[in-house]
Parts: sequence; C-alpha cells; structure tokens
Amino acid sequence: MIALVLLAAVAAAAAQNDPLPRQPAPRREQFRVIYEWNAIDFDWESSQDRLAYLNASKYIPQNVLVSGINYYGENLFLTMPRMLDGVPATLATIPVTPVDTAPKLRPFPSWEQNEKGNCEALQFVQNIEIDKNGIMWILDNGRVGTLTQSPDPKCSPSLVLIDLKSGKNEMERIPFSEDVVNPKTTYLNDIVVDNRDGDYAYITDNSAVDPGIIVFRRSDKTSWKVRDTPSMSSVGEASTFRLNGTTVNLPVNIDGIALGPQFRTEDGRVDRKVYYCPLSSFHLYAINASVLRNESLGQIGDGALRPYVQDLGTKASQTDGMKMDSAGLLFYGLIGNSTIAEWNSAVDFREGQRTIARDINYIQWVDRFTFDNKGNVYVVINRLYNFVKNLVSLNEVNYRILKSHTGSKSYVFGEDLEEVKKQPNTATLPAVTSSLLLLTIAHLLA
Ligand SMILES: *[C@@H]1O[C@H](CO)[C@@H](O)[C@H](O)[C@H]1NC(C)=O
Ligand SMILES: *[C@@H]1O[C@H](CO)[C@@H](O)[C@H](O)[C@H]1NC(C)=O
Ligand SMILES: *[C@@H]1O[C@H](CO)[C@@H](O)[C@H](O)[C@H]1NC(C)=O
Ligand SMILES: *[C@@H]1O[C@H](CO)[C@@H](O)[C@H](O)[C@H]1NC(C)=O
Ligand SMILES: *[C@@H]1O[C@H](CO)[C@@H](O)[C@H](O)[C@H]1NC(C)=O
Repeated sequence: MIALVLLAAVAAAAAQNDPLPRQPAPRREQFRVIYEWNAIDFDWESSQDRLAYLNASKYIPQNVLVSGINYYGENLFLTMPRMLDGVPATLATIPVTPVDTAPKLRPFPSWEQNEKGNCEALQFVQNIEIDKNGIMWILDNGRVGTLTQSPDPKCSPSLVLIDLKSGKNEMERIPFSEDVVNPKTTYLNDIVVDNRDGDYAYITDNSAVDPGIIVFRRSDKTSWKVRDTPSMSSVGEASTFRLNGTTVNLPVNIDGIALGPQFRTEDGRVDRKVYYCPLSSFHLYAINASVLRNESLGQIGDGALRPYVQDLGTKASQTDGMKMDSAGLLFYGLIGNSTIAEWNSAVDFREGQRTIARDINYIQWVDRFTFDNKGNVYVVINRLYNFVKNLVSLNEVNYRILKSHTGSKSYVFGEDLEEVKKQPNTATLPAVTSSLLLLTIAHLLA
C-alpha cells in the first residue's frame, strides 16, 4: 500500500518538473507494430547475387538503416541513406498491406537505378515526398559514406523526380547548382512539397557548416537557400540523447519540416506555414511560405529571415521527423521520452501538444511519418542512437513500422484556396458584365 502511494507521488512530481504532453482527446486508436526487422534484407535477383554482395562487402546487414517512409498505391517506400558502406539500395518498397512481418525490400525504381558510384543512379536518399499529382520528389544527397572516415562526394546533390502515374518510373535528375548546395558539406535531409504556382519544394539542409532551407521552384528549376542561425542550428543543451541506458551526443542542425494548410492573409493572398526544428533543439519554429519563396532573401545572407521566424515554444524532448495532415494536425516524435505526439496547429503550441503513444520498448527513436489513403498514419522507429554508435546487434529488433488509424490524410491533399485580389469597389463590375455576357450567349445558343 505504502509503496504504491510513494510511487504515484514520485511520478506526479516528475511529471510536474518536466511535463509530457497530456493525453489526447478524443482517444486515438493504439499504434501497433505492422513490420519489424532485426536486419534489412532485399529481394535479390538471385541467391548468388546476395552472396556476391555479402562477399564483396557491398551488403553489410548491420549498416542498413531505414530512415524515411512514404506511401503510394500498393506500396510503402522506405529510404536507406548510405551513411556507412554496404548499403546495396537507398530506396525500396514493401507492400502497404502486410503479408509477412519482415518483408524483403525491393529496390525502387530498380537495382540498376540504385547502383552506388553511378551518378545517373540514386546514391544517398534520406527522404522523399509524393505530391498530390503523383510526382515522387527524391532528395539525393549524392555524397555517400557520411559517417565514414572518407565520404565520397563524386555525385552531385540533386532532386530526382519520378512521375508515378505513368508507371514507367523514369527518373528526371535535376542537380543543384554548386553556389546553392555545396556538394562537400550539404546534408539534404527532408522535403515538403507545395503544389502551387508551378510547384515549390522546401528542403532542410542540416549541413554542419551551413544549415538552411533550400527552396526549389519546379517551373524553372531554380533554387536558393535561406538561413537563420538561431533557429536552424543545434544547441548544446539539446545535443545529448538518452535512451535505455545509451547516451549519444549528436549536435544536428535543422532536420524535420512540415507544411501547414493554406490560409488567406488579410490582403487576400494565400499563404501557408512552414514548420521546422533542428534535431538537437527543444523548439519548434514556423515561417510563412511566402517569405521562403522570396528569392531575394537568399541573396541577403544570414539574418535576412530573422524578422519572419516565429518561435512557437518548446517540446518535452527532441524531434527527428514530423509530418502534418491536411487539417493542420502535426505528428512528431519526442525521442528522449519514447513518445509519439500530436499538435493541432489551430491551438497555441504551448498548450496544444498531446501524447498519443509512449512505450520504452517499442518506441526507440521516432524517425519519419507518412499517411496512406485510408486515414492511417505510419511511423518508422529505427534506434538511430545504436546505429551512430556502431552498436547495432542483429540479435534484436532494430527497425519497426508502427501504424494507427487517425482519419488523417497528407497535407499534400489539403484544400486549395483561391487568391482574392483586393480591388476598388467598381472592380466587381467586370465580373457582372461578363456573366451577363455569358447569359446572353446562352440565350443565343438556346
Ligand atoms: C569472395 O571474394 C573472393 C575475393 O575477395 C573471391 O576469391 C571468392 O571467389 C569470392 N567468393 C564468392 C562466393 O563470390
Ligand atoms: C522580398 O524581400 C525583399 C528583401 O527583404 C523585400 O524588399 C521585398 O519586398 C520582398 N518581396 C516580396 C514580394 O515580399
Ligand atoms: C505571416 O502571415 C500572417 C498572415 O498574413 C501575418 O499575420 C504574419 O504577420 C506573418 N508573419 C510574419 C512573421 O511575417
Ligand atoms: C523527456 O526527454 C528529455 C530529454 O530529451 C528529458 O530531459 C526529460 O526528463 C524527459 N521527460 C520525461 C518525463 O521522460
Ligand atoms: C535496454 O538495454 C539493455 C542493456 O543495457 C538490454 O538488455 C535491453 O534489451 C534493452 N531494452 C530494450 C527495450 O531495448
């Protein structure tokens, strides 16, 4: 009896010192494990291939980490960044409907298009996005072996587009210009796509020397980079990660990014919020997309964004990946708390955060999220803290995909608002006139 009371009191005190987000209302369905792997294996063209890759150290099972996740059609897409040697493919698929708990990954678009050292093929993919038109946007960092003694920058950092609707899976490779993206130092981490005005992508570059957001406009294939040191850099107080007795020090800059629903500004324009956070930070930041889209701010250099960056407040722990749904609900991880959380962006961040899952055994480093077309959210758990310390043991489960029904769909399917141009009062006249004209034509045709 006494022991129980004491435990409860200790727990309550701990909660007061460092409050975790409250439980959500309405209640969410539990997350459940749909896939888990000790090691990632592939759908090889032949068993000899597998042996040859193993023998040549082109496949080193403990070096293959699953990081990103996305969804299209019948498949989930997984990314395996080539941080270490021995990663045979950097992008692959598994079925969205499980038939097996540890399926073999099928390289996408093909084995050839994942060939390491071939600069026409995919080299280092940390994340991808699939937009509302079925275009896959692949961030290919080019440089491989980022966690080895000698990273290889032979291939250019590029955006690679694939039109999934065509079924042909042809890749359009668009290298970034070297004045925007430095091939030796860049780390293209995550991407959101804004399907407006010719399609834009906002990309986090967590380069240790020059962190920033790269903006890419698809209509003319132009890009620029904007910087804001205070909100895009790691901070010392958040660079230590503690999970199940392992401590890692990882000072990592701007990482997760999410895109909010469209809203109308006072002067009738349409804008959106872009949310981001460094991995090693407790803060969530926001900026209006219209600011990022202003090309001239890329030229001005550091400090240009400062007046436009909003600090939304702090989280209980650090966050790697995050994703927003079409209604403005953000899903994100709290790494040091083994927690998956959500925030309804219509509510103040300091009050609106909610814990939706917490489990020290199953939620060990929340990486990326995605949604399918049936209202489910999926999340990759990958024990990155073990991977970076070279402590991956193939006798334990290292990678999991969890799933929960939340009724969400991706932000890419959010509502499109129309711009309302502010006009003098008389400006309504032409509209009336033209509809009268239409009526007249209709009468003529009748
Ligand atoms: C493994 O590699 C060695 C050379 O490194 C080679 O002699 C041997 O034939 C290879 N074995 C297989 C099964 O490919
Ligand atoms: C873009 O930024 C520049 C520099 O701050 C500013 O002068 C200009 O008005 C901005 N353009 C738009 C369309 O907001
Ligand atoms: C972002 O846009 C909103 C709506 O137009 C505006 O009220 C706000 O001032 C903008 N924020 C910044 C920091 O520019
Ligand atoms: C949450 O994680 C942070 C560090 O990431 C830690 O300082 C804090 O004690 C954790 N809080 C709880 C309640 O676990
Ligand atoms: C936590 O770490 C201990 C060893 O320090 C290990 O035996 C145990 O399996 C770990 N638990 C989980 C859930 O990873």
